[in-house]
Amino acid sequence: MIKIFITFVTLTTTCSFAPLQLQAQNQSQSPIPSLKETFKNDFLIGTALNTAQIQEKDPAAAQLIPLQFNAATPENIMKAAIIHPGWDHYNFTLADQLVAYGQKNKIKITAHTLIWHSQLPDFVRSIKSPDSLRQFFTNHISTLASRYDGKVFSWDVVNEALEENGSLRKSIFLQLLGEDYIVEAFRLAQKAAPHTELYYNDYNIEQPKKRAGAVEIIKKIKAAGVRIDGVGIQGHWRASHIPLAEIEQSILDFSALGVKVMFTELDLSVLPNPWDRDNADVSATAGNSTGKDPYPNGLPDSVQNVLTKGYEDLFKLFLKHKDKISRITFWGVNDGQSWLNDFPIRGRTNYPTLFDRAYKAKPAFYAVIATKK
Ligand code: G3I
Repeated sequence: MIKIFITFVTLTTTCSFAPLQLQAQNQSQSPIPSLKETFKNDFLIGTALNTAQIQEKDPAAAQLIPLQFNAATPENIMKAAIIHPGWDHYNFTLADQLVAYGQKNKIKITAHTLIWHSQLPDFVRSIKSPDSLRQFFTNHISTLASRYDGKVFSWDVVNEALEENGSLRKSIFLQLLGEDYIVEAFRLAQKAAPHTELYYNDYNIEQPKKRAGAVEIIKKIKAAGVRIDGVGIQGHWRASHIPLAEIEQSILDFSALGVKVMFTELDLSVLPNPWDRDNADVSATAGNSTGKDPYPNGLPDSVQNVLTKGYEDLFKLFLKHKDKISRITFWGVNDGQSWLNDFPIRGRTNYPTLFDRAYKAKPAFYAVIATKK
C-alpha cells in the first residue's frame, strides 16, 4: 500500500514542470534550507518588502522572510511621494514600522531612496524655481537621513541618475540644480547620517557606457571629499540574456574604486519584452497584456530550466567575487509580488523570483543553494 502511495506521489510530481529531484525536495515536509544561513560567510541576502509584508499581514510571508533574509529594502514606502507628500508633511508611520520589523527580525534595512526622479510628490513635480527645489532637496535629505540614522543600515542616496549612454539623466534635479546635485545629495546625507552607509543605485550599470557614467559619479563624490560606501547594480535582467561578462567586469571596476558592490534589486524576467533589451524605467510601459501573457498557468520545463540556470550562473559568479560583494537583494519575496507582473505590460504572469505565488521554493532556489556545495 505504501509503495503504491509513493508511486502515486512520484507520478503526480513528475506531471508538473520542475525537474524530478528538485520537485521532490520542494514537495517534502522538511524545512527548506535558508538563503541567509547558506551565504552567511559570503554576503547579506535581502528582499524587497511591501506594506503587507512589513505589517506581517500574510502569515506565510511573515514566517518565511526572517528565515531566509537578513537584509531588506522597502519596495515603495520610503519613496518621496509616499513618505513626504507635502512641503511640511511627512508620513513616517510605515517607515517606522519597517525599522521595528528589521530590529525584531535582525534584518538590516537599506532605505530606498532619497533622490530619484520617479515617484516624486506632486508638489515637487510642479516646482520651477531652483531655489524651491533646493529647499525641498535639503529638507528631504536632512529630515529623513537624520531621523533614520543608526536605525537603518544604509541609504540608496541617489537612484537612477544615468541615461543608458552614461550621461546624466535629464531629471528635474539635473535641470534645476545642475550636475553637482549628486555630490550635494551625498554631502547632505553624510552630515545627517554619520552612522549609515551611503550608496549610489542604478539599473544596467553593468553595461559599459552606463558603467562608465557610474564610475564617474563615484569618482566625483570621492574627489569632493564626500563619503560613498557602495554601489548597487540593480539586476533587472532577462533570464535568457544575463550579461555575465559585463557583470563580472563591473564587479571588478566598481570594487577597484574602493566601494562595496551590491546587487540590489535582483529579478529575472521570463516573459517577452517589447524592446528586446533590459529596461527598468518604470515610465516605459507598453499597454495591457492581451495576447502577450504566455504562461498564465505555470512555466514549461524549458523556461523553468532557463530561469534556474540563470540564477545558478549568477550565484556562481557572485561567490567567485564574494570578497567584493556585500549584499544580494531580490526584488520581491515571491513571484506574485513582483513588479514584473505589470511591467512593461500590465496584468501578466511572470516568474522572476526564487519563490512561487504560494511562497514555495522553486527549482531556482535549490540551484542557488547548491552553488555553495
Ligand atoms: O499605492 C498605489 C495604490 O494606492 C493605487 O491604487 C495603485 C494603482 O495603480 O497604485 C499604487 O501604487 C503603485 C506602487 O507601485 C505600489 O504598488 C504605483 O502605481 C506603482 O507605480 C508602483 O510601482 C513601483 C515602481 O518602482 C515605481 O515606484 C513598483 O512596485 C516597484 O517595484 C518599483 O521599484 C523600482 C525601484 O524602486 C527602483 N528601480 C526599479 C524598480 C522597478 O521599477
